[in-house]
Amino acid sequence: MRKLLVATTGLAIAALSGQALAAGSATHHIEVGKKVYERAFGRGCGACHDISSNPQLVKLIDAGKLSREKFGKVIKEGQGSMPKAIDQIMELAPVKTANFDSDPVKAQEIAIDAVYEYLKSLK
Ligand code: HEC
Repeated sequence: MRKLLVATTGLAIAALSGQALAAGSATHHIEVGKKVYERAFGRGCGACHDISSNPQLVKLIDAGKLSREKFGKVIKEGQGSMPKAIDQIMELAPVKTANFDSDPVKAQEIAIDAVYEYLKSLK
């Protein structure tokens, strides 16, 4: 019983410090996401997405109509006249400097999270 209690306490502490870490990095990620949004493709995503005839990303996310999954898929594969964006996102200086993960696939997902979280923060 005592052992179980100790183990549970340990888990709770691990979970708490995990949360603190995530909260600390979230702000940093949003800043990187903002830079990606402003700089991708030279003129930024907004060069197209701030034009009302193109999908309004903040509104779509806010309305629950653009999931993180769909968002990631479009960034990685492109869609119609939306160019595939992931390769050149990973080449942007702020993303390189952030050094999200040594695993390139994980790093891509974190970079996509950063842009998604930035857009979520704008609603
Ligand atoms: C050259 C113009 C252009 C640029 C630059 C651009 N987009 Fe797009 N994007 C589009 C167009 C047009 C569509 C609609 C494509 C379609 O569905 O046919 C679109 C669609 C999307 C979608 C899917 C929306 C939906 O609900 O189907 C996402 C997500 C997206 N863009 C994110 C981004 C992000 C993030 C960036 C910057 C890294 C970016 N786009 C840069 C033109 C652009």
